[in-house]
Amino acid sequence: MLVCGLDFGTSNTAVALPSGEVLRLDAHAPAPRLFRTVLFFPEDTRETLAGHEAITRYEEDNLGRFIQSMKTWLPASSFTRTQLRGRTLSLEELIAIFLRRVRALTSAALGDDVTHVVLGRPARFSPDATVDTFAEGRLRQAATLAGFTEVRFVIEPIAAALAYEATLTKDEAVLVADFGAGTTDLTVMQLGPSRRGRADRRDDVVASSGVYVGGDRFDSAIMKTSLLKYFGQGSTYSTTSDGKRLPMPAYLSSRLLSWNEMSLIREKTTRELIDLMLETSDRVPAIEALEDLVMENLGFRLYRAIERAKVELSTASEARIDFDEARISIHETITRDAFEAATTHLIDELEVCTDELLARLPPGLTLDAVFLTGGSSQLPSVRRLFARKFGEARLRTADAFTSVVEGLGRAAGSTFDAKT
Ligand SMILES: Nc1ncnc2c1ncn2[C@@H]1O[C@H](COP(=O)(O)OP(=O)(O)OP(=O)(O)O)[C@@H](O)[C@H]1O
Ligand SMILES: [Mg+2]
Repeated sequence: MLVCGLDFGTSNTAVALPSGEVLRLDAHAPAPRLFRTVLFFPEDTRETLAGHEAITRYEEDNLGRFIQSMKTWLPASSFTRTQLRGRTLSLEELIAIFLRRVRALTSAALGDDVTHVVLGRPARFSPDATVDTFAEGRLRQAATLAGFTEVRFVIEPIAAALAYEATLTKDEAVLVADFGAGTTDLTVMQLGPSRRGRADRRDDVVASSGVYVGGDRFDSAIMKTSLLKYFGQGSTYSTTSDGKRLPMPAYLSSRLLSWNEMSLIREKTTRELIDLMLETSDRVPAIEALEDLVMENLGFRLYRAIERAKVELSTASEARIDFDEARISIHETITRDAFEAATTHLIDELEVCTDELLARLPPGLTLDAVFLTGGSSQLPSVRRLFARKFGEARLRTADAFTSVVEGLGRAAGSTFDAKT
């Protein structure tokens, strides 16, 4: 019996062993321990690509179906089936394709079949308990279809806490905050040598909470405040009936705020509107850029460029986006100040969620430390918020991308009582 911990993240997936060692699953990726949570089904072959390879192939030639952020669909009962190469697939089957690949790579790395898994899950898939159970059930089903015979769940911030706990020499009450791509999860937990290694740690959780604020929404904010002008925001067009000039409808721009929703613009009525704007707009080149962005499927590439700029802004005071594709020509400098001004509402949402959690703590409980993890914990504004609330001296960090999976690996060891 081989066991592992598996962090199925919105943008990155990783696998760890009971020792906490994180496997190098994606040999060709710049960060081999992170397996990008994406699938690509090219149109011209029967191949199914996953991880870094899926991204590079899709960037070379975007004909086919590219699937990302699968995790965010788990709580959506509206997403049940999708058509793929003439087959109807359920969401569970789609996620199983991805997890099967991850399981195969893990088994190959370990030289034997991995059958037992501790899977991470957000503190809350949804505030609605029924929806939450539904989402977890789907993830369990996907893991089973992928060939895992024993599936247990550990909440992601608890997993991150277990990784942090491995470094402790005395007991502490800790707030663990995991800022991912899709969600931020917060958990207050009692940790330390006296509790380490217990099979079930639920009793040590004092309180937890979560909010849909993650890196993806910071990316959208850059699109919203700095790039929509390149795609016709603020332009006008005229209707055929009375020639009256109208502003470009807000619903069109708002679909550009997530690259997944852009494809909706290809629907017939929207297509007709774009055709009309191409004829009558006061800024035809911008509408041409919009048309190419949507019809040539360039959204993913644009969002990659946005994400790169965002990551750069975590260490630099400004970053440039240069994007020349089809009839799109974006040359934009974004300053850290402008980015932070455009994202204050997200920091406010994080603060509200944190305050709400703190208000639920038992009177008299003092937090000894605040452990920040997840890729978006590297945003200076996130760090500042927590420094302001708790003081720099109490903040702790480790590898932002692997704490969760390391903890899941450790949990797999104690849950299945295995040593590898
Ligand atoms: N240096 C950085 N500064 C700011 N954001 C960053 C940085 N590096 C990565 N990110 C962001 O971190 C996010 C990915 O983090 P992580 O791998 O923790 O998420 P995930 O586990 O896939 O998502 P989730 O936990 O929400 O399911 C992305 O949104 C990415 O843009
Ligand atoms: Mg995560």
